[in-house]
Amino acid sequence: MKKIIIANWKMNPQSQQEALELVGAIRNGIDSQHPNHPMGHCVNTDIVFCPPFVFMEKIKQVLNRSKIALGAQNVFYENSGTFTGEISAQMLKDMGCECVILGHSERKRCFFESMEDVNKKIISVLKAEMIPVVCLGDESSADENEKLNGVDDQLEIVLQNIPKEKLNKIIFVYEPAWAISDGKKPSTVLPSSNDVLSAKLLVQKFLSSIIGKKKASMAKIIYGGSVNSKNVAEYIGDSLMDGALVGGASLRAKEFIKIIKIVEDMKC
Ligand code: PGA
Repeated sequence: MKKIIIANWKMNPQSQQEALELVGAIRNGIDSQHPNHPMGHCVNTDIVFCPPFVFMEKIKQVLNRSKIALGAQNVFYENSGTFTGEISAQMLKDMGCECVILGHSERKRCFFESMEDVNKKIISVLKAEMIPVVCLGDESSADENEKLNGVDDQLEIVLQNIPKEKLNKIIFVYEPAWAISDGKKPSTVLPSSNDVLSAKLLVQKFLSSIIGKKKASMAKIIYGGSVNSKNVAEYIGDSLMDGALVGGASLRAKEFIKIIKIVEDMKC
């Protein structure tokens, strides 16, 4: 199965110029690693950029005909109407987005988003035929007794009323809130590869009770939280994750290209 690396730019960079330079540098870096397959083509890795909404149109033009996909960091669950400041799934689809990050812990912390909201957002993203990238892992600390606490409950809520046949369209992200970087430096506490593997098994177990073991084993489950070129091999290789959600490191072209190269070269 191909690995997926999703770049979550959050509220960065500060100008369109910088955003385009970043996209250009990353794309050139990937192309130089694959001289026979230009256009951001990777053999073993799918890449998605999730920039702020305001940069999407221009980035879409730059990515035109490349293999790098466009994603969003958020969406509102209603289709249209009197919702000042919001953006619908259909608008994102029309923009060319292929996936949407949902339920990020920063959205819960800063904008009081609930798991019930996330559930409605998943439904609207699926309806618009995009891929929901659903963040899980609300443990308040890295304390041993806290680890993976509440992930089962989160799954229970976010998957309500989602038809069984749609479950394999969702990408699940295990992203413990305490492991997220400050954008520059990795968190001082990180989960072990065993913790991350346990999260994958927990999500698979939950899914297998709904869709059976075989289908659950095919679900895409990735890791997020301070991923960089030093730890990506451990989280994807040792923890058997299907990819990574990369924040701070995706804003540094050289570092992000390094991450992709490492994942490309992995034999798993
Ligand atoms: P980080 O962010 O890689 O900077 O920790 C990941 C995320 O919050 O999605």
